[in-house]
Parts: sequence; C-alpha cells; structure tokens
Amino acid sequence: MGDVMSLKFRFENVLSENIGNSGIRYDELMKEAEKKVKNCHQKLVEKRESKKLGFFDLPYDTETADKILNLYEKLKHKKNFVVIGIGGSSLGNMAVNSAINGVYYNEKKKNTPNIYFADNVDPEKLNDIMEILNPEDTVFNVITKSGSTAETMANFMILYNFLKEKAPDKINENLIITTDRKNGNLKKIADELGIDNFVIPENVGGRFSVLSPVGLISAAFTGVDIKSMLEGARDMDKICSLDNVEKNPAYMAALIHYMFYRDKNVNINILMPYSENLCHIADWFRQLWAESLGKVTEDGKNVGITPEKSVGAIDQHSQVQLYVEGPFDKLVTFIEVGKFRKEIKIPEVFNHIEGLNYLAGQNLSKLLNSEKKATEIALCEAKRPNETIFIPEINPYYVGQIFFMFEVMTAFAGELFEIDAFDQPGVEAGKIATYALMGRKGYEEKKKEIENKKNVRREI
Ligand code: PA5
Repeated sequence: MGDVMSLKFRFENVLSENIGNSGIRYDELMKEAEKKVKNCHQKLVEKRESKKLGFFDLPYDTETADKILNLYEKLKHKKNFVVIGIGGSSLGNMAVNSAINGVYYNEKKKNTPNIYFADNVDPEKLNDIMEILNPEDTVFNVITKSGSTAETMANFMILYNFLKEKAPDKINENLIITTDRKNGNLKKIADELGIDNFVIPENVGGRFSVLSPVGLISAAFTGVDIKSMLEGARDMDKICSLDNVEKNPAYMAALIHYMFYRDKNVNINILMPYSENLCHIADWFRQLWAESLGKVTEDGKNVGITPEKSVGAIDQHSQVQLYVEGPFDKLVTFIEVGKFRKEIKIPEVFNHIEGLNYLAGQNLSKLLNSEKKATEIALCEAKRPNETIFIPEINPYYVGQIFFMFEVMTAFAGELFEIDAFDQPGVEAGKIATYALMGRKGYEEKKKEIENKKNVRREI
C-alpha cells in the first residue's frame, strides 16, 4: 500500500474466492471501480481544491499544533481538563484519549491532567463532574462550531458559573474556547471575556474535525504527541489521494461497502476493534459514517448503511452469534493490532487441569488476536463478509492514519451514493425542535406547530 509506512486494509474475505456466492467477484469489483472511481475521485479533488473540504488540509496545519503546545506548556501543571462539547465536538477527543492513554487514564500515575467529558446534559453526570473537580485546578475547553448547540451551551453555562463562583480570578486562565472564527454565541462570549479563541475552520464539519483544535487541544493536554498524529494523517493522505483503487484503502473500503449495500442489501457496517483502547474510535466512526451517509438522494431515495460498534473479544460473547447466523445484512470490519504496548504471559498455574493448561505460558495478546482470527474463520465458514484494518501498533502516528483513512473513505462513499456527505439536516431538525421546546426566541412558530400536532398516544 504505497511507499510510506502505513496500516493495511485486508479485504479478501469479502470476495467470492473466500466466501462463495455471498461475496463479490474481484473482476466485478474492478469493473465497478472502472465505472465509478475516476469520476468520484475527480469530484473529491475538485471539492478539495476549491477549499470546500477543509478536513484534507488539517494534517498540514502544524502552526496550530505549535500554538496548542505552547498553551499546554503554560497550563500543564493543572490537575484536570474538561471537554465541554457533543457529537463531532467530543467523540474524537474520547477516541484519541482512550486509544493513546488507555481507558483507565485518569486512574494512572502521570504528569498530565485527568480528563473528563461534559457531553450529555444529564444532571447526575454533570453534578458528579462538579463534585470531583476543583475549578482552581481545572482547565475547561468548551468546543462548539455553531456556538449554539443546546447541550454544549447549557453545560458550559453551568461550568462557567461554577468557575466564576469558586475561582473568579481564574476565568481567563482556565477557560479555552474553540469555535468559529467569526460567528456564534460562543464567539461573542470569547470576545466579551477577551479570550483569543481557537478556530474551527469554516470548511471543516464537526465530525471531520478531530485533527483540528477540536481534537488536538485535549490530546496535547493529555500528553499525546499531536505532531506525530498529524504526520500519520499526512502520510495517509499520500495513499488516500491515489486514484488507483487497488492502492487506495479508503476508496476500496468505500466501494466494497457501497456494492454490498446496493447489490446484496447489506446495510449494517460493524466496526469491531480487537482492542479495548480502540473502542472509542468505533464510537467516533459511528457518528462520522451515520451522519455523513444517512441521507436522501436527489431523486428522493433514502440511503445509508447503519454503523455499529462491537468490541473484540467481549462481543464474541454477545453479538457474534447474530453476525454468524442472523440475517445476511452485515459487513464486519475488524481492527487488528500487530504489537500491543504491554504484554502479559498467562502464568503456569493450575497446570494439572486438562483444558486450562493449554493457556499457560501463552501471551494474552496471542489469545486476543487468535480470538479475532477465530471470529474471522467463523464468519467465513458462514459465508459472511468481513475485512480487517491492521495497525502495527497503537500510537499517535497510526491513530492519525486511521482517522484520515476513515474520513476519506466516508467522503468517497458520499460520492458513490451521490449524496452530500457534509451536511446534516436531520441533526439540525432535532436542534430546532429542542430550541422550540425550550422556548428560545425566534422558534415560536415551531413551538406552536409541535403543540398543535395531533399525535396519537397510547401507553400501558
Ligand atoms: O458533525 C456535526 O456537524 C455534528 O454532529 C456536530 O458535531 C454536533 O452537532 C455538535 O455541533 P457543534 O460543534 O456546533 O456544537
């Protein structure tokens, strides 16, 4: 896959050579590629060159990375860091943190702040955050591109007030604002407080923003090498901008999902990392794929492939039965890790018990990767399509690659489906109804419309 060191995309288990008639033939795949890839590639290139798609440029913005690292140098003595944001303004942050620092990061001994996520507007959760944190020692990073998302702004108002009451002299020091360059309520607040905000570029949508200040600030504060993450994304860009589908994993993966959806009614895309620490990448991907591709086409067709998250090996004991014997509507994408950062050998205890002694002396990572292989075998035996993204190890460089590959794959799938992968009218509809229900000025008509709608109600 190109000259640069990169992750690998293995797709032999979607082909009829390996799974018979349930699969697609390689020559069919290539025929389809010939029909579609050049044209879709050209459309993406045009959007990139006309600066409609800013996510392509993010890996090259090392100046912003420097600015973030300077700020981190000034504030790294703080004990806690809170991300206030939702959707594209928080999922990437969670994904980076758990991938690089591990799911128990906060409990570990370290020189970097603990991290918390104020995403949902659940009063119990926010109350817990305020009980745990001392605002004197906590950096609050509020992130919202629109500056108006109700959840984010409500959580921000509560936490801002908490900071103002308990540590009024720390407001400017402990508050980082990430929002639009010019517009929105948060920009107004930044100006009022005299805080120089970090900018989410206008041409970068929320779910494509993880490599912008949206994802980079919390990553830097938790000790992640953000420059290496950007380098990984840049190297992936070299590969994912090739118009040859046989060399471009993002295009190949998108084409495979598109063909399974169109020709075989496979409308569920399951991302299954065999790594606990990568499971939030699957959450991030779910948003990217769902919001980008769940759309109405120009001729009025509803399209979309439902993304699901599954974690190996845990979900072998929960979901895999369904994947093997349930409806033929799923394509499973594994993420396999070559070398784990830590290893544990299963000790030679209970050697006298037949049926346990085969485990003794083996590495835990071998068990995990054998479980992955076993699930792959079970799926192939049941003629169920599956593919694997292989990363040599989990580090910022490869995480940058994964993010970038998935973003290009999603953008390219948008071209294949002939939809706009970069808007989200369905999300906006929910936001508007929330404003109306909460009595926001300007939404009175919507409120009336909701109240007057005669919906049938039945309950037991
Ligand atoms: O991808 C998107 O655009 C959305 O999911 C947004 O990220 C989410 O709605 C939050 O929006 P904002 O950053 O404006 O608060």
